[in-house]
Amino acid sequence: MISPSTIRQIMDAVRIEEVVGDFVNLKRRGNNLFGLCPFHSEKTPSFSVAPSKNIFKCFGCGRGGDAVHFIMEHEHYTYPEALRYLAAKYNITIEEREPSPEEREAAQKEESLYIVNEFALRFFQQQLFETREGQTIGLSYFKERGFSEETIRRFGLGYAPKAGNSLLQAARSAGYKEELLLELGLITQHQRDFFRERVIFPIFNLTGKPMAFAGRLLGQQTRGPKYINSPESPIYDKSRSLYGISLAQRSIRKQSECLLVEGYTDVISLHQAGLDRAVASSGTSLTSNQVQFIRRFSPNLTILYDGDSAGIQAAVRGLNIALEQDLNVKVAILPEGEDPDSYLRKVGPAEFESWLQEKATDFILFKTERLLEKAQGDPIKKTQGIRELSESLALLPDPLKRAMYVKEAARRLEMEEQNLVDEVNRQIKKRLQQLERQRKNKARQKEADRPQADTRPTTQAPQTPSPDTAQNSETELLRLLILHGNKAYDETQSVAQYAFSQIGSLLDLFQDQQLKNTLLELWEYLQKHQSFPPTEYFLSHPQSGISQLARHFLFPDWGEMSPEWEKRGILLITQETPEQNHHKDCDKTLAHFLLTKYHELIQQNQQRIQQTPPQAAEELEKYMLVQHHLLEKRKELAEKLGLVVPGNRL
Ligand code: CTP
Ligand code: MN
Repeated sequence: MISPSTIRQIMDAVRIEEVVGDFVNLKRRGNNLFGLCPFHSEKTPSFSVAPSKNIFKCFGCGRGGDAVHFIMEHEHYTYPEALRYLAAKYNITIEEREPSPEEREAAQKEESLYIVNEFALRFFQQQLFETREGQTIGLSYFKERGFSEETIRRFGLGYAPKAGNSLLQAARSAGYKEELLLELGLITQHQRDFFRERVIFPIFNLTGKPMAFAGRLLGQQTRGPKYINSPESPIYDKSRSLYGISLAQRSIRKQSECLLVEGYTDVISLHQAGLDRAVASSGTSLTSNQVQFIRRFSPNLTILYDGDSAGIQAAVRGLNIALEQDLNVKVAILPEGEDPDSYLRKVGPAEFESWLQEKATDFILFKTERLLEKAQGDPIKKTQGIRELSESLALLPDPLKRAMYVKEAARRLEMEEQNLVDEVNRQIKKRLQQLERQRKNKARQKEADRPQADTRPTTQAPQTPSPDTAQNSETELLRLLILHGNKAYDETQSVAQYAFSQIGSLLDLFQDQQLKNTLLELWEYLQKHQSFPPTEYFLSHPQSGISQLARHFLFPDWGEMSPEWEKRGILLITQETPEQNHHKDCDKTLAHFLLTKYHELIQQNQQRIQQTPPQAAEELEKYMLVQHHLLEKRKELAEKLGLVVPGNRL
């Protein structure tokens, strides 16, 4: 882990114009530099770099940020990777931070799981090559499928024998802990091997370590499912894994294209034939995590699907995810009845490659063509198709690219461009509303799952502000601190200092314990260091909820944060001087937070008043005074926010 002081050193050293200048031809105009945006296609420069603020900003596509963001976006690096890149550029020696005890424990656990999987990998390989059963059943099967010995070794293919627990026994005598084998799904609860009489396809992570295994039935056997897979474990997240990625990554980068197929055997055949930029999504439809993974290596994705209609349907469904992440997606549909493996064997590598060049069609245009084919003079089908196409178009984050596609699709569909534009805009709006609803539901769900704090009487529940408001205002506060905490609120104090001075003891009213603790930690950090922590502090926060939130705030997906910002009147992405907005943002966020908290206090106090017997006049009077004060405060805040408070209860 990179130490905070190294991060500070890097951030002090980087000059945005130098970092960007390695990739973009920049020309000075006044204080700033301009060039053609590397993130979207354009003919006149709308991409600007402000050396004085050390940030970049594109007025065309809205992307912007500091040097780290630029490298992350441009090179598809993760946050630490971008830091390492910049450290290398500026000759800064990276000082690694000591991991915390929890981090160390988690890492050790992962390490032992990998070690056990490596043992299993060797076991399966040894069974395949060195036992009679493995050779006659497993090896001959692979050979029959046309896999060379080199290929078999490169993919670590193996064989799991018939006998009920030979892996378990081997692991025991080698001294591996049974519970680890169980956790990895290598054995069952009943002390039997999970994989029996199957050929084994190990699934490797990016660096070539075995995360999981898939076992395929042999030949035409019908005993059980064709494939069984390791369950998810601390080292195996199915939605993040891509079969073949460790072997394919170099070629994907070099040839700037990723070939996505459905099956393990397809990947192996393609690699063997020299098309080693192929990976598989392992039978499931593409997840957004997988897409992000691919995007780190290349923005170009070509998907090969089987020629049956199920394959085409799957193509159309899965690809929206890729569009959303700004990949250039092409589709190639194989001839009826073929899969990549069989077709490759039929025509050979050279013809396969040229077939691919010729057949791979841009996804949007592919969809347009299919629409025309399917509708064939049926206006209802055509309308339906246009709607679906518009849904895909609405997902394209780059407005210029979107405009280009709309134009081309309208031409092919022989319809007025404006009509298609209108439909796409309608879909964009719909999508934003949907995202907003989802976000709210999620917040509500989270709130419902949370045990209620015992200090708050449950009877007042119906009167408390709607859960998403309370929770949002707490989350928003964290967002403010993460994004702007270190900026100057005024001449004398930072946003963080000001915010803490305003929140004061209201911190006790936090409903979200995790957020509350994070704020307390942050407060202590500020006291101790007299400075604001680096971004890494949040991004690598040991509580995954916090680091997730931080990532979300710092690198918002298109459309996910923007509806909220739009509503708040702070469209940071599109404003010309976002850095000047944090003061306003700070006032608003704080006022909103305080408002919800005062609301709660008022209701609690109201309850106290109701529960106090009239005889206790002195006490009652005290509560009434408090109530008066709280109501005044709330009014003040509401005015500040330009809100109308729903009727007072006193
Ligand atoms: N798959 C799975 N479980 C199944 C069937 C399929 O996980 N019961 C996944 C596997 O990742 C498989 C992919 O879906 O590789 C494609 O399925 P299929 O074409 O049936 O398998 P192939 O690996 O292509 O095997 P073969 O070429 O021998 O048919
Ligand atoms: Mn197949």
